Amino acid sequence: MEVSNEVNEQKKYIKKVKEINTNKSPKYNILTMGCQLNENDSEKLCGMIEEMGYVKTDKMDEVDLAVINTCCVRENAEDRLFGKLGDLKKAKQTRGTIIAIGGCMMQEEHITKKIKQSYPYVDLIFGTHTLHKFPEDLSKVLEEKNKLIDILDIDGKVYEGLPIKRDSSVKASVTIMNGCNNFCSYCIVPYVRGRERSRSPKDIIQEVKEIAKQGYKEVTLLGQNVNSYLRVEREKNIPFEEYEGINSFATLLKAINKIDGIERIRFVSPHPKDFTDDVIEAIAECDKVCKLVHLPLQSGSTNVLEAMNRKYTKEQYLNLVEKMKAKIPNLTLSTDIIVGFPGETEEDFEDTLDVVRKVNFEQVYMFIYSRRVGTPGDKMENQIPEEIKHKRFDRLKALFEEQTKKNNQKYVGTTQKVLVEGKSKNNGDMLTGRTDSNKVVVFEGPEELINKVVDLDIISEHMWYLKGQFERKG
Ligand code: SAH
Ligand code: SF4
Ligand code: F3S
Repeated sequence: MEVSNEVNEQKKYIKKVKEINTNKSPKYNILTMGCQLNENDSEKLCGMIEEMGYVKTDKMDEVDLAVINTCCVRENAEDRLFGKLGDLKKAKQTRGTIIAIGGCMMQEEHITKKIKQSYPYVDLIFGTHTLHKFPEDLSKVLEEKNKLIDILDIDGKVYEGLPIKRDSSVKASVTIMNGCNNFCSYCIVPYVRGRERSRSPKDIIQEVKEIAKQGYKEVTLLGQNVNSYLRVEREKNIPFEEYEGINSFATLLKAINKIDGIERIRFVSPHPKDFTDDVIEAIAECDKVCKLVHLPLQSGSTNVLEAMNRKYTKEQYLNLVEKMKAKIPNLTLSTDIIVGFPGETEEDFEDTLDVVRKVNFEQVYMFIYSRRVGTPGDKMENQIPEEIKHKRFDRLKALFEEQTKKNNQKYVGTTQKVLVEGKSKNNGDMLTGRTDSNKVVVFEGPEELINKVVDLDIISEHMWYLKGQFERKG
Protein backbone atom coordinates (compact mmCIF):
# COMPACT_ATOMS: atom_id res chain seq x y z
CA MET A 1 0.00 0.00 0.00
CA GLU A 2 1.30 3.39 -0.90
CA VAL A 3 1.40 5.51 2.21
CA SER A 4 0.12 9.04 1.58
CA ASN A 5 2.62 11.85 2.27
CA GLU A 6 0.21 13.35 4.77
CA VAL A 7 0.14 10.06 6.65
CA ASN A 8 3.95 9.87 6.65
CA GLU A 9 3.98 13.38 8.10
CA GLN A 10 1.70 12.16 10.90
CA LYS A 11 4.20 9.44 11.82
CA LYS A 12 6.46 12.22 13.12
CA TYR A 13 3.72 13.42 15.45
CA ILE A 14 2.97 9.87 16.55
CA LYS A 15 6.61 9.61 17.60
CA LYS A 16 6.49 12.96 19.34
CA VAL A 17 3.43 12.07 21.45
CA LYS A 18 4.90 8.66 22.19
CA GLU A 19 7.97 10.44 23.60
CA ILE A 20 5.80 12.69 25.75
CA ASN A 21 4.08 9.54 27.05
CA THR A 22 7.28 7.61 27.84
CA ASN A 23 7.11 5.88 31.25
CA LYS A 24 3.56 7.12 31.79
CA SER A 25 1.48 4.37 30.09
CA PRO A 26 -1.54 6.67 29.85
CA LYS A 27 -5.04 5.27 29.30
CA TYR A 28 -7.64 6.07 26.68
CA ASN A 29 -11.26 5.33 26.04
CA ILE A 30 -13.22 5.72 22.81
CA LEU A 31 -16.98 5.95 22.39
CA THR A 32 -18.23 5.21 18.88
CA MET A 33 -21.75 6.43 18.19
CA GLY A 34 -22.33 5.79 14.51
CA CYS A 35 -22.56 3.36 11.63
CA GLN A 36 -20.02 0.80 10.47
CA LEU A 37 -18.06 3.48 8.62
CA ASN A 38 -17.83 5.41 11.85
CA GLU A 39 -16.68 2.22 13.60
CA ASN A 40 -14.04 1.68 10.93
CA ASP A 41 -12.85 5.28 11.50
CA SER A 42 -12.64 4.51 15.22
CA GLU A 43 -10.47 1.49 14.46
CA LYS A 44 -8.10 3.83 12.63
CA LEU A 45 -8.17 6.29 15.54
CA CYS A 46 -7.39 3.42 17.94
CA GLY A 47 -4.52 2.35 15.68
CA MET A 48 -2.97 5.83 15.86
CA ILE A 49 -3.70 6.31 19.57
CA GLU A 50 -2.15 2.98 20.58
CA GLU A 51 0.96 3.75 18.51
CA MET A 52 1.24 6.93 20.55
CA GLY A 53 1.54 4.84 23.72
CA TYR A 54 -2.00 4.87 25.11
CA VAL A 55 -3.63 1.73 26.51
CA LYS A 56 -7.37 1.14 26.19
CA THR A 57 -9.55 1.10 29.31
CA ASP A 58 -13.24 0.97 30.16
CA LYS A 59 -12.76 2.44 33.62
CA MET A 60 -13.73 6.07 33.22
CA ASP A 61 -11.97 7.16 36.42
CA GLU A 62 -8.54 6.31 34.97
CA VAL A 63 -8.93 7.81 31.51
CA ASP A 64 -6.28 10.30 30.34
CA LEU A 65 -7.63 10.66 26.81
CA ALA A 66 -11.38 10.40 26.11
CA VAL A 67 -12.36 10.28 22.45
CA ILE A 68 -15.92 10.45 21.17
CA ASN A 69 -16.57 9.59 17.52
CA THR A 70 -19.99 11.09 16.79
CA CYS A 71 -22.88 10.44 14.43
CA CYS A 72 -25.64 12.89 13.50
CA VAL A 73 -27.94 10.86 11.28
CA ARG A 74 -30.74 11.09 13.86
CA GLU A 75 -31.53 13.47 16.69
CA ASN A 76 -31.02 11.18 19.69
CA ALA A 77 -27.25 11.21 19.04
CA GLU A 78 -27.09 14.83 20.17
CA ASP A 79 -28.69 14.16 23.55
CA ARG A 80 -26.30 11.28 24.02
CA LEU A 81 -23.22 13.36 23.23
CA PHE A 82 -24.17 16.21 25.54
CA GLY A 83 -24.99 13.76 28.32
CA LYS A 84 -21.59 12.15 27.90
CA LEU A 85 -19.84 15.54 27.91
CA GLY A 86 -21.58 16.33 31.19
CA ASP A 87 -20.17 13.11 32.66
CA LEU A 88 -16.67 13.89 31.41
CA LYS A 89 -16.57 17.25 33.17
CA LYS A 90 -15.68 15.52 36.43
CA ALA A 91 -12.85 13.55 34.81
CA LYS A 92 -11.52 16.81 33.41
CA GLN A 93 -11.60 18.51 36.82
CA THR A 94 -10.13 15.65 38.82
CA ARG A 95 -7.70 14.11 36.37
CA GLY A 96 -7.18 16.63 33.61
CA THR A 97 -8.47 14.15 31.06
CA ILE A 98 -7.98 15.33 27.47
CA ILE A 99 -11.36 15.36 25.74
CA ALA A 100 -11.42 14.97 21.96
CA ILE A 101 -14.58 14.83 19.83
CA GLY A 102 -14.64 13.89 16.17
CA GLY A 103 -16.89 12.43 13.52
CA CYS A 104 -19.92 13.47 11.52
CA MET A 105 -21.63 15.71 14.07
CA MET A 106 -18.54 17.91 14.26
CA GLN A 107 -19.12 18.89 10.62
CA GLU A 108 -22.25 20.73 11.77
CA GLU A 109 -21.57 24.33 12.68
CA HIS A 110 -24.45 24.74 15.12
CA ILE A 111 -23.04 21.83 17.11
CA THR A 112 -19.43 23.03 17.31
CA LYS A 113 -20.75 26.46 18.35
CA LYS A 114 -22.77 24.89 21.13
CA ILE A 115 -19.77 22.90 22.34
CA LYS A 116 -17.58 26.01 22.43
CA GLN A 117 -20.21 27.88 24.40
CA SER A 118 -21.54 25.26 26.79
CA TYR A 119 -18.69 22.76 27.12
CA PRO A 120 -15.55 24.94 27.06
CA TYR A 121 -13.49 22.17 28.69
CA VAL A 122 -13.44 20.15 25.45
CA ASP A 123 -9.83 20.18 24.22
CA LEU A 124 -10.01 19.01 20.62
CA ILE A 125 -12.68 18.99 17.94
CA PHE A 126 -11.91 17.28 14.64
CA GLY A 127 -14.03 16.48 11.60
CA THR A 128 -14.54 13.65 9.16
CA HIS A 129 -12.00 15.08 6.70
CA THR A 130 -9.22 15.58 9.26
CA LEU A 131 -9.28 12.24 11.06
CA HIS A 132 -5.84 11.29 9.72
CA LYS A 133 -4.36 14.39 11.40
CA PHE A 134 -5.33 13.25 14.90
CA PRO A 135 -1.68 12.74 16.03
CA GLU A 136 -0.72 16.27 14.95
CA ASP A 137 -3.79 17.80 16.60
CA LEU A 138 -3.26 15.86 19.81
CA SER A 139 0.42 16.75 19.99
CA LYS A 140 -0.48 20.45 19.70
CA VAL A 141 -3.04 20.14 22.49
CA LEU A 142 -0.47 18.36 24.70
CA GLU A 143 2.45 20.67 23.94
CA GLU A 144 0.78 24.02 23.65
CA LYS A 145 -1.96 23.30 26.18
CA ASN A 146 -4.35 25.04 23.80
CA LYS A 147 -7.81 24.15 22.64
CA LEU A 148 -7.90 23.15 19.01
CA ILE A 149 -10.55 22.92 16.35
CA ASP A 150 -9.53 21.21 13.15
CA ILE A 151 -12.40 20.85 10.73
CA LEU A 152 -12.33 21.08 6.96
CA ASP A 153 -15.53 21.44 5.04
CA ILE A 154 -14.02 20.52 1.71
CA ASP A 155 -13.99 16.90 0.60
CA GLY A 156 -11.08 15.17 2.22
CA LYS A 157 -8.79 13.01 0.15
CA VAL A 158 -8.60 9.28 0.68
CA TYR A 159 -5.62 8.63 2.92
CA GLU A 160 -3.75 5.34 2.75
CA GLY A 161 -1.48 3.67 5.27
CA LEU A 162 -3.03 4.73 8.59
CA PRO A 163 -2.35 2.28 11.39
CA ILE A 164 -5.45 0.34 12.41
CA LYS A 165 -6.53 -1.57 15.52
CA ARG A 166 -9.44 -3.80 14.56
CA ASP A 167 -12.20 -4.65 17.04
CA SER A 168 -12.66 -8.29 16.06
CA SER A 169 -10.19 -11.01 15.11
CA VAL A 170 -12.75 -12.85 12.97
CA LYS A 171 -14.47 -10.12 10.94
CA ALA A 172 -12.84 -7.06 9.41
CA SER A 173 -14.30 -3.98 7.72
CA VAL A 174 -12.74 -2.27 4.74
CA THR A 175 -13.99 1.14 3.64
CA ILE A 176 -14.06 1.15 -0.17
CA MET A 177 -15.46 4.63 -0.70
CA ASN A 178 -16.17 7.79 1.23
CA GLY A 179 -18.98 10.31 0.92
CA CYS A 180 -22.32 10.30 -0.86
CA ASN A 181 -23.76 12.08 -3.90
CA ASN A 182 -27.38 11.06 -3.51
CA PHE A 183 -28.83 13.77 -1.28
CA CYS A 184 -31.86 11.84 -0.12
CA SER A 185 -33.96 14.70 1.22
CA TYR A 186 -34.06 13.44 4.83
CA CYS A 187 -30.35 12.69 5.11
CA ILE A 188 -27.47 14.68 6.60
CA VAL A 189 -24.70 12.31 5.48
CA PRO A 190 -23.79 14.04 2.16
CA TYR A 191 -23.31 17.33 4.05
CA VAL A 192 -21.03 15.87 6.72
CA ARG A 193 -19.15 13.29 4.66
CA GLY A 194 -18.72 15.18 1.41
CA ARG A 195 -18.83 13.87 -2.16
CA GLU A 196 -18.25 10.30 -3.28
CA ARG A 197 -14.61 9.27 -3.58
CA SER A 198 -13.57 5.70 -4.24
CA ARG A 199 -10.39 4.12 -2.97
CA SER A 200 -8.09 2.70 -5.60
CA PRO A 201 -8.64 -0.98 -6.49
CA LYS A 202 -5.03 -1.80 -5.68
CA ASP A 203 -5.19 -0.33 -2.16
CA ILE A 204 -8.39 -2.25 -1.40
CA ILE A 205 -7.05 -5.55 -2.70
CA GLN A 206 -3.84 -5.11 -0.73
CA GLU A 207 -5.77 -4.38 2.44
CA VAL A 208 -8.00 -7.45 1.98
CA LYS A 209 -4.95 -9.64 1.28
CA GLU A 210 -3.33 -8.32 4.45
CA ILE A 211 -6.50 -9.08 6.44
CA ALA A 212 -6.57 -12.61 5.02
CA LYS A 213 -2.92 -13.07 5.98
CA GLN A 214 -3.74 -12.03 9.53
CA GLY A 215 -6.32 -14.82 9.69
CA TYR A 216 -9.59 -12.95 9.24
CA LYS A 217 -12.33 -15.04 7.62
CA GLU A 218 -14.94 -12.39 6.87
CA VAL A 219 -14.62 -9.00 5.24
CA THR A 220 -17.33 -6.32 5.01
CA LEU A 221 -16.93 -3.71 2.30
CA LEU A 222 -18.18 -0.33 3.48
CA GLY A 223 -19.48 2.81 1.83
CA GLN A 224 -22.63 4.96 1.75
CA ASN A 225 -23.40 3.69 -1.74
CA VAL A 226 -21.09 0.75 -2.39
CA ASN A 227 -22.56 -0.33 -5.70
CA SER A 228 -21.61 3.00 -7.24
CA TYR A 229 -17.95 2.19 -6.51
CA LEU A 230 -15.78 4.02 -9.14
CA ARG A 231 -18.90 5.32 -10.90
CA VAL A 232 -18.04 9.01 -10.49
CA GLU A 233 -14.54 8.28 -11.72
CA ARG A 234 -15.89 6.46 -14.81
CA GLU A 235 -18.53 9.09 -15.60
CA LYS A 236 -16.31 12.11 -15.13
CA ASN A 237 -13.24 10.53 -16.68
CA ILE A 238 -11.30 10.95 -13.46
CA PRO A 239 -8.24 8.75 -13.97
CA PHE A 240 -7.87 5.69 -11.73
CA GLU A 241 -5.53 2.78 -11.97
CA GLU A 242 -7.24 -0.47 -12.96
CA TYR A 243 -5.90 -3.41 -11.02
CA GLU A 244 -6.72 -7.07 -11.58
CA GLY A 245 -9.49 -5.97 -13.95
CA ILE A 246 -11.32 -3.94 -11.31
CA ASN A 247 -13.28 -0.98 -12.67
CA SER A 248 -16.67 -1.35 -10.92
CA PHE A 249 -18.32 -2.83 -7.84
CA ALA A 250 -19.07 -6.11 -9.63
CA THR A 251 -15.47 -6.58 -10.72
CA LEU A 252 -14.29 -5.68 -7.21
CA LEU A 253 -16.47 -8.44 -5.71
CA LYS A 254 -15.08 -10.94 -8.21
CA ALA A 255 -11.48 -10.00 -7.44
CA ILE A 256 -11.98 -10.23 -3.67
CA ASN A 257 -13.74 -13.57 -4.12
CA LYS A 258 -10.42 -14.95 -5.40
CA ILE A 259 -8.40 -14.00 -2.32
CA ASP A 260 -7.31 -17.11 -0.40
CA GLY A 261 -8.20 -17.24 3.28
CA ILE A 262 -11.26 -14.97 3.03
CA GLU A 263 -14.36 -17.13 3.33
CA ARG A 264 -17.13 -14.56 3.50
CA ILE A 265 -17.73 -11.23 1.83
CA ARG A 266 -20.44 -8.80 2.89
CA PHE A 267 -21.13 -5.21 1.86
CA VAL A 268 -23.19 -2.23 3.10
CA SER A 269 -24.98 -0.21 1.84
CA PRO A 270 -25.89 -0.59 -1.77
CA HIS A 271 -28.51 1.73 -3.30
CA PRO A 272 -31.42 0.09 -5.17
CA LYS A 273 -31.06 2.56 -8.06
CA ASP A 274 -27.51 1.35 -8.78
CA PHE A 275 -28.23 -2.37 -8.54
CA THR A 276 -27.16 -3.21 -12.08
CA ASP A 277 -27.26 -6.70 -13.61
CA ASP A 278 -23.50 -7.14 -13.38
CA VAL A 279 -23.71 -6.70 -9.58
CA ILE A 280 -26.55 -9.25 -9.33
CA GLU A 281 -24.55 -11.69 -11.45
CA ALA A 282 -21.40 -11.18 -9.37
CA ILE A 283 -23.32 -11.93 -6.14
CA ALA A 284 -24.80 -15.08 -7.69
CA GLU A 285 -21.50 -16.21 -9.14
CA CYS A 286 -19.10 -15.54 -6.25
CA ASP A 287 -19.28 -18.38 -3.73
CA LYS A 288 -17.85 -16.27 -0.89
CA VAL A 289 -20.30 -13.39 -1.25
CA CYS A 290 -23.03 -13.86 1.37
CA LYS A 291 -26.50 -14.20 -0.08
CA LEU A 292 -27.93 -11.73 2.44
CA VAL A 293 -28.23 -8.41 0.65
CA HIS A 294 -29.06 -5.19 2.47
CA LEU A 295 -31.38 -3.26 0.17
CA PRO A 296 -32.56 -0.04 1.83
CA LEU A 297 -36.24 0.57 1.00
CA GLN A 298 -36.85 3.71 3.16
CA SER A 299 -40.52 3.82 2.10
CA GLY A 300 -42.88 1.61 0.10
CA SER A 301 -44.84 4.56 -1.29
CA THR A 302 -43.88 5.92 -4.69
CA ASN A 303 -45.02 9.41 -3.64
CA VAL A 304 -42.90 9.40 -0.51
CA LEU A 305 -39.95 7.90 -2.38
CA GLU A 306 -40.12 10.79 -4.82
CA ALA A 307 -40.24 13.35 -2.01
CA MET A 308 -37.29 11.52 -0.45
CA ASN A 309 -35.37 11.81 -3.75
CA ARG A 310 -34.70 8.06 -3.80
CA LYS A 311 -35.00 7.75 -7.61
CA TYR A 312 -37.04 4.52 -7.70
CA THR A 313 -40.73 3.65 -7.38
CA LYS A 314 -42.48 0.97 -5.32
CA GLU A 315 -42.83 -1.15 -8.45
CA GLN A 316 -39.20 -0.74 -9.47
CA TYR A 317 -38.10 -1.84 -6.02
CA LEU A 318 -40.37 -4.90 -6.08
CA ASN A 319 -39.24 -5.78 -9.62
CA LEU A 320 -35.63 -5.55 -8.55
CA VAL A 321 -36.33 -7.90 -5.64
CA GLU A 322 -38.04 -10.38 -7.97
CA LYS A 323 -35.14 -10.27 -10.40
CA MET A 324 -32.62 -10.79 -7.61
CA LYS A 325 -34.61 -13.67 -6.09
CA ALA A 326 -34.74 -15.34 -9.50
CA LYS A 327 -31.02 -14.98 -10.14
CA ILE A 328 -29.48 -15.48 -6.70
CA PRO A 329 -30.23 -18.88 -5.10
CA ASN A 330 -30.91 -18.69 -1.33
CA LEU A 331 -31.14 -14.91 -1.39
CA THR A 332 -32.28 -13.22 1.82
CA LEU A 333 -32.80 -9.47 2.19
CA SER A 334 -32.51 -6.89 4.92
CA THR A 335 -33.60 -3.27 4.75
CA ASP A 336 -33.85 0.19 6.33
CA ILE A 337 -37.23 1.91 6.66
CA ILE A 338 -38.10 5.42 7.80
CA VAL A 339 -41.61 6.02 9.13
CA GLY A 340 -43.22 9.43 9.31
CA PHE A 341 -41.41 11.28 6.54
CA PRO A 342 -43.14 14.65 5.88
CA GLY A 343 -46.38 14.18 3.97
CA GLU A 344 -46.61 10.42 4.62
CA THR A 345 -50.33 9.57 4.56
CA GLU A 346 -52.02 6.50 5.99
CA GLU A 347 -52.16 5.16 2.43
CA ASP A 348 -48.44 5.76 1.91
CA PHE A 349 -47.68 3.93 5.12
CA GLU A 350 -49.87 1.02 4.01
CA ASP A 351 -47.68 0.82 0.90
CA THR A 352 -44.65 0.38 3.14
CA LEU A 353 -46.38 -2.42 5.06
CA ASP A 354 -47.36 -3.95 1.71
CA VAL A 355 -43.74 -4.10 0.51
CA VAL A 356 -42.63 -5.55 3.85
CA ARG A 357 -45.29 -8.27 3.54
CA LYS A 358 -44.32 -9.06 -0.03
CA VAL A 359 -40.54 -9.12 0.32
CA ASN A 360 -40.43 -10.90 3.68
CA PHE A 361 -37.17 -9.33 4.89
CA GLU A 362 -34.79 -11.27 7.10
CA GLN A 363 -34.03 -8.07 9.02
CA VAL A 364 -35.68 -4.63 9.06
CA TYR A 365 -33.91 -1.67 10.64
CA MET A 366 -36.70 0.78 11.48
CA PHE A 367 -36.30 4.49 12.12
CA ILE A 368 -38.65 7.26 13.09
CA TYR A 369 -38.08 10.25 10.82
CA SER A 370 -35.83 12.78 12.48
CA ARG A 371 -35.53 16.38 11.20
CA ARG A 372 -31.95 17.28 10.30
CA VAL A 373 -30.89 20.93 10.06
CA GLY A 374 -29.87 21.84 6.52
CA THR A 375 -31.72 19.05 4.71
CA PRO A 376 -34.70 19.67 2.38
CA GLY A 377 -36.88 17.40 4.55
CA ASP A 378 -36.47 19.76 7.50
CA LYS A 379 -37.98 22.63 5.49
CA MET A 380 -41.03 20.66 4.34
CA GLU A 381 -44.22 22.00 5.86
CA ASN A 382 -46.20 18.79 6.16
CA GLN A 383 -44.29 17.30 9.11
CA ILE A 384 -45.99 14.32 10.77
CA PRO A 385 -46.98 14.64 14.47
CA GLU A 386 -44.80 12.56 16.82
CA GLU A 387 -47.74 10.53 18.06
CA ILE A 388 -48.65 9.31 14.55
CA LYS A 389 -45.01 8.53 13.78
CA HIS A 390 -44.75 6.37 16.90
CA LYS A 391 -48.01 4.54 16.21
CA ARG A 392 -46.88 3.71 12.68
CA PHE A 393 -43.51 2.60 13.95
CA ASP A 394 -45.20 0.20 16.37
CA ARG A 395 -47.38 -1.23 13.60
CA LEU A 396 -44.37 -1.83 11.37
CA LYS A 397 -42.50 -3.42 14.25
CA ALA A 398 -45.41 -5.75 15.02
CA LEU A 399 -45.59 -6.87 11.38
CA PHE A 400 -41.85 -7.47 11.23
CA GLU A 401 -41.81 -9.47 14.47
CA GLU A 402 -44.66 -11.63 13.21
CA GLN A 403 -42.67 -12.33 10.03
CA THR A 404 -39.47 -12.98 11.98
CA LYS A 405 -41.20 -15.69 14.01
CA LYS A 406 -42.28 -17.46 10.85
CA ASN A 407 -38.91 -16.99 9.18
CA ASN A 408 -37.07 -18.38 12.20
CA GLN A 409 -39.17 -21.53 12.11
CA LYS A 410 -37.90 -22.23 8.60
CA TYR A 411 -34.38 -22.65 10.00
CA VAL A 412 -35.29 -25.35 12.52
CA GLY A 413 -34.27 -28.76 11.20
CA THR A 414 -31.83 -27.33 8.63
CA THR A 415 -28.04 -27.41 8.66
CA GLN A 416 -26.39 -23.98 8.47
CA LYS A 417 -22.83 -22.89 7.80
CA VAL A 418 -21.87 -20.70 10.75
CA LEU A 419 -18.77 -18.55 11.16
CA VAL A 420 -17.93 -18.93 14.85
CA GLU A 421 -17.10 -15.53 16.37
CA GLY A 422 -16.38 -16.35 20.00
CA LYS A 423 -17.92 -17.11 23.36
CA SER A 424 -21.52 -16.05 23.90
CA LYS A 425 -21.73 -12.85 25.94
CA ASN A 426 -24.73 -14.08 27.91
CA ASN A 427 -23.46 -17.56 28.58
CA GLY A 428 -19.70 -18.18 28.69
CA ASP A 429 -20.17 -21.93 28.19
CA MET A 430 -21.70 -21.40 24.77
CA LEU A 431 -20.20 -20.26 21.48
CA THR A 432 -21.82 -17.80 19.11
CA GLY A 433 -21.59 -17.25 15.39
CA ARG A 434 -23.57 -16.16 12.36
CA THR A 435 -25.17 -17.80 9.37
CA ASP A 436 -24.70 -16.57 5.81
CA SER A 437 -27.97 -14.66 6.37
CA ASN A 438 -26.41 -13.00 9.45
CA LYS A 439 -28.63 -14.81 11.99
CA VAL A 440 -27.01 -15.33 15.38
CA VAL A 441 -26.60 -19.00 16.32
CA VAL A 442 -25.67 -20.07 19.85
CA PHE A 443 -24.34 -23.58 20.52
CA GLU A 444 -22.15 -25.73 22.72
CA GLY A 445 -18.78 -26.62 21.28
CA PRO A 446 -15.02 -26.57 21.82
CA GLU A 447 -13.20 -23.23 21.71
CA GLU A 448 -11.04 -24.42 18.82
CA LEU A 449 -14.01 -23.75 16.59
CA ILE A 450 -13.63 -19.98 17.01
CA ASN A 451 -12.81 -18.32 13.68
CA LYS A 452 -13.91 -21.37 11.69
CA VAL A 453 -16.92 -21.98 9.49
CA VAL A 454 -18.77 -25.04 10.83
CA ASP A 455 -21.94 -26.94 9.96
CA LEU A 456 -24.55 -26.67 12.71
CA ASP A 457 -27.93 -28.38 12.97
CA ILE A 458 -30.50 -25.81 14.03
CA ILE A 459 -32.55 -27.26 16.87
CA SER A 460 -34.68 -24.36 18.08
CA GLU A 461 -35.54 -20.75 17.35
CA HIS A 462 -35.86 -17.77 19.64
CA MET A 463 -36.86 -14.27 18.56
CA TRP A 464 -33.34 -12.88 18.08
CA TYR A 465 -31.20 -16.03 17.83
CA LEU A 466 -31.23 -19.68 16.82
CA LYS A 467 -29.90 -22.58 18.85
CA GLY A 468 -27.55 -24.95 17.06
CA GLN A 469 -25.98 -28.31 17.68
CA PHE A 470 -22.45 -29.21 16.73
CA GLU A 471 -21.59 -32.78 15.93
CA ARG A 472 -17.96 -33.73 15.96
CA LYS A 473 -17.18 -35.54 12.77
CA GLY A 474 -15.01 -38.69 12.48
N1 SAH B 1 -26.12 5.18 2.82
C1 SAH B 1 -26.86 4.23 3.51
C2 SAH B 1 -27.03 4.50 5.00
C3 SAH B 1 -27.47 5.84 5.43
S1 SAH B 1 -27.74 6.12 7.12
C4 SAH B 1 -28.14 4.04 2.77
O1 SAH B 1 -28.49 4.81 1.91
O2 SAH B 1 -28.81 3.07 3.05
C5 SAH B 1 -28.60 4.68 7.66
C6 SAH B 1 -30.08 4.78 7.70
O3 SAH B 1 -30.51 5.78 8.58
C7 SAH B 1 -30.74 5.13 6.40
O4 SAH B 1 -30.83 4.05 5.53
C8 SAH B 1 -32.08 5.64 6.84
O5 SAH B 1 -33.02 4.59 6.93
C9 SAH B 1 -31.81 6.18 8.23
N2 SAH B 1 -31.89 7.64 8.24
C10 SAH B 1 -31.12 8.52 7.55
N3 SAH B 1 -31.50 9.78 7.80
C11 SAH B 1 -32.56 9.71 8.66
C12 SAH B 1 -33.40 10.67 9.29
N4 SAH B 1 -33.26 11.97 9.06
N5 SAH B 1 -34.38 10.21 10.11
C13 SAH B 1 -34.54 8.89 10.35
N6 SAH B 1 -33.77 7.95 9.78
C14 SAH B 1 -32.79 8.35 8.95
FE1 SF4 C 1 -28.04 9.33 3.02
FE2 SF4 C 1 -29.25 8.63 0.81
FE3 SF4 C 1 -26.61 8.95 0.81
FE4 SF4 C 1 -27.70 6.88 2.08
S1 SF4 C 1 -27.78 7.25 -0.11
S2 SF4 C 1 -26.11 8.25 2.85
S3 SF4 C 1 -29.59 7.72 2.83
S4 SF4 C 1 -28.12 10.56 1.12
FE1 F3S D 1 -23.80 8.62 11.36
FE2 F3S D 1 -21.88 9.64 9.94
FE3 F3S D 1 -22.44 7.08 9.74
S1 F3S D 1 -23.81 10.60 10.37
S2 F3S D 1 -24.60 7.02 10.13
S3 F3S D 1 -21.68 8.12 11.53
S4 F3S D 1 -21.73 8.42 8.13
